[in-house]
Amino acid sequence: MLETVVKRDRDFGTPASLSTQTVQITIDGTEVDVAIGTSVMRAAAEAGINIPKLCASDNLEAFGSCRLCLVQIEGRRGYPASCTTPVEAGMVIWTETPKLHELRRGVMELYISDHPLDCLTCPANGDCELQDMAGVVGLRNVRYGYDGANHLHDATDTSNPYFAYDPSKCIVCSRCVRACDEVQGTFALTVDGRGFASRITAGQNDSFLASDCVSCGACVQACPTSSLTEKTVIDMGQSEHSVITTCAYCGVGCAFKAEMKGQEVVRMVPWKDGKANHGHSCVKGRFAWGYATHQDRMLKPMIRSNISDPWREVSWEEAIGYAASELKRIQARHGRDSIGGITSSRCTNEETYLVQKLVRAAFGTNNVDTCARVCHSPTGYGLKATLGESAGTQTFDSVMHTDVIIIMGANPTAAHPVFASQLKRRLRQGAKLIVIDPRQIELVNAPHVKADYHLPVRPGTNTALLTSMAHVIATEGLIDEAFVAERCETPAFQQWRDFVSLPENSPETMEAVTGVSALDLRAAARLFATHGNGSIYYGLGVTEHSQGSTTVMAIANLAMATGNLGREGVGVNPLRGQNNVQGSCDMGSFPHELPGYRHISDDAVRAQFEQDWGVKLQPEPGLRIPNMFDAAISGSFKGLYCQGEDIVQSDPNTQHVAKALASMECIIVQDIFLNETAKYAHVFLPGSSFLEKDGTFTNAERRISRVRQVMQPKAGLADWEVTCALSNALGYPMDYRHPSQIMDEIARLTPTFSGVSFKKIDELGGSVQWPCNAEAPDGTPIMHVDEFVRGKGRFIITKYVPSDERSTRKYPLLLTTGRILSQYNVGAQTRRTPNVLWHSEDVLEMHPHDAEDRGIRQGDMVAIQSRSGETVLRADITERVQPGVVYTTFHFPESGANVVTTDNTDWATDCPEYKVTAVQARLVAEPSTWQAGWSRFSDVQQGLLDERQREGQTSPQSAGRPAQPAEPVPVPEPAPVLSSQE
Ligand code: SF4
Ligand code: SF4
Ligand code: SF4
Ligand code: FES
Repeated sequence: MLETVVKRDRDFGTPASLSTQTVQITIDGTEVDVAIGTSVMRAAAEAGINIPKLCASDNLEAFGSCRLCLVQIEGRRGYPASCTTPVEAGMVIWTETPKLHELRRGVMELYISDHPLDCLTCPANGDCELQDMAGVVGLRNVRYGYDGANHLHDATDTSNPYFAYDPSKCIVCSRCVRACDEVQGTFALTVDGRGFASRITAGQNDSFLASDCVSCGACVQACPTSSLTEKTVIDMGQSEHSVITTCAYCGVGCAFKAEMKGQEVVRMVPWKDGKANHGHSCVKGRFAWGYATHQDRMLKPMIRSNISDPWREVSWEEAIGYAASELKRIQARHGRDSIGGITSSRCTNEETYLVQKLVRAAFGTNNVDTCARVCHSPTGYGLKATLGESAGTQTFDSVMHTDVIIIMGANPTAAHPVFASQLKRRLRQGAKLIVIDPRQIELVNAPHVKADYHLPVRPGTNTALLTSMAHVIATEGLIDEAFVAERCETPAFQQWRDFVSLPENSPETMEAVTGVSALDLRAAARLFATHGNGSIYYGLGVTEHSQGSTTVMAIANLAMATGNLGREGVGVNPLRGQNNVQGSCDMGSFPHELPGYRHISDDAVRAQFEQDWGVKLQPEPGLRIPNMFDAAISGSFKGLYCQGEDIVQSDPNTQHVAKALASMECIIVQDIFLNETAKYAHVFLPGSSFLEKDGTFTNAERRISRVRQVMQPKAGLADWEVTCALSNALGYPMDYRHPSQIMDEIARLTPTFSGVSFKKIDELGGSVQWPCNAEAPDGTPIMHVDEFVRGKGRFIITKYVPSDERSTRKYPLLLTTGRILSQYNVGAQTRRTPNVLWHSEDVLEMHPHDAEDRGIRQGDMVAIQSRSGETVLRADITERVQPGVVYTTFHFPESGANVVTTDNTDWATDCPEYKVTAVQARLVAEPSTWQAGWSRFSDVQQGLLDERQREGQTSPQSAGRPAQPAEPVPVPEPAPVLSSQE
């Protein structure tokens, strides 16, 4: 159990040397062998000798400013700083001598003389390196008073919502500056002034909030005093114990030490031993956890017969009983396949596994799907077809061995920030970068990072662009023939080479389609094929297209053709959006696949599950989410169990989704907040936040990490217990006692997980990458090493087929969507944190030319209208987008970004084409009809929530009475249906 008393992680002072060669040195009389390049400070620390230090930390390059770490080296004059002195063969080092004591005391005395001696009331009391060092060097009194110049009255900067900067406590060690530069890569801090006058400043003497700071907290973590301190620590004091767990936001899967006081979180500290983050984090994981205890949390089960009724709080038993009876009633009346379930990519593997099992075994149908349908389902399809496994091929650390990187349709600094920091580190070391994106994402031109090529592809033409890159590689003799001959199917390769070599696929021909200069494209293709290890990272800007699966296959083709698979530094790396989207796919959430991506129609696989689960399974795939909506509207789909997913806000064509939900008879929503979907629900089951969960998440690297409960479920039951209760009420017994038993069952039934257990994960230091089985007992960091999972890699022809969604005279702009750093997905969590300070509304980015054409100025209200609907957003005029392209985020329900997106989908997986919507934009003065309707509907639903009867009150209301078919409901009024004739 990784629960600890709070103590600082061991710090070796300087980073480890990567050398495999060693030298012998003597420290305090003991001979030790040390890797070449190691500092004397680290060598001593590795030998168990801690040299006093203040400005050094083992995640930062040595700086040598504090002079506390002086040592004596035989044969050398003076007293060198051990942090900046590398070991040399035969060195004889003394770390403790009377002279060194005297020097160190003198250094500490100077520091303390300009430091407020308020240790007893200081928030860092007990967790302060300055305090510790004063004790270590034996400083008992200070000869200098406070009469001279000092900084004791400098004002504290409290502008950042999460941490404060108190310059009076600053010892100008520069650790914060270096953490911002080296760890985070934002370069927001500087040391302003010289000598005694020097102070740390953010930006150009800005406040932290006004500066470029992205609030990652690396500087706070690096600060050895309380100069930079979390406001929660200032308010609550030091924590008492800590638990290691995993962030519940993005697919990086950062490990955190949740530092606690009783059941309350004091702060989240990125865990140094976390293999995905190595002690770093972003603003969301480190600071934006307050939503877990927000007053909006729904902690009581509720039911109602119709969505026009007030809610009624009931006991868990009554809610579960009511839900089960409704599902049974619907099935009795409308047939077995009239109900289904949606699993959550925010819940644990164990919870997700149980929901799909509930649907298949207790509902008796395969109508189960997950939000990966709307994000990375093309990844699963495309990578499985070409390489044989539906997952990324590398570790995040692999990027440190890459020489040239393609980032395509992803914005890592916003959506995968900790990976972005690592990537920027590699770029600063000299790796090359090719960005393929319609927008100028931050990586195109970040501090100390410049993309070698930015290919601003026209939305919807990714396949054409990658095929023309392949054309260059094939026709210019840049294919890795040896790799292809050994590792790939020859006939398929030859067909592919012939196809991509066609003149119609040349960059010159495709330029008119993609909008990308043929010259740039040729140069980028040559760079990728010839510059050593090439890796490709991609996101939803690849998958969420009508040719999403084709583009994923084109990426795999490119990697195979250039021999960039199966070792460190290369590979195909989908950047997964949500914390457990990889896991929810692995766990059998798709209607056609059982856990481990095995097809439901495979008799042998089904028989294995039938025997274990003791139930007959349906052999035919069930409905996908969009099919569920269509079936609901046509009247054959009537009941839905939706766990931890807000389909009304996140799925495309909101009005279609709302109509589908309003057509159903029983919607059961399990969530932590009464989200947009819950406004259409008849049963609300309170969910648990990640802090209340016990289980595992699987990140984008296939890393299965432990999620540990740091507080009891606030509503009394964990999510997996609720699913078990519903299953039991439906007559299919589930009697797990602990999530570890669910993982044991997953391992028993899933070949790629057969070696996984909670115990094993703990033994391996908190995480393991699947496959983890007899062949790979400690997991698989890199896939496809000697051969592809499918045997030989398969090239697939990727013919460009234009999307139906094209700009026209009527809809001349292309809308594409994305995320922002401070908000997360539908925003349900981050909107309930101070992160709204950075992003309080979704805006429409528009190029100045397009704005000028329409008379639109910065901040104006702009209606964007597509074939699906219309919404109104405030304009942000920027050259980040190219002319003809507009862009928005989708973090606020009232923005209605998905009112505008259409129900065009990927041909293979039905993943929505979020990234391409033809729109018109015009200046308006008020919200859209849809927004006005949404507002009214939300007010009505809030009223019905406010009017709810509390548990134990007698009810004059209708809840609990025999359910009626849903009456016409106050769904937001649809915008006028627009003609598709243009
Ligand atoms: S919070 Fe992060 S970005 Fe901001 S100054 Fe500190 S290290 Fe830099
Ligand atoms: S704020 Fe903290 S880390 Fe930064 S220079 Fe001052 S004492 Fe060092
Ligand atoms: S990078 Fe992702 S996983 Fe890491 S702290 Fe940020 S949101 Fe959490
Ligand atoms: S720790 Fe070596 S000079 Fe500061």
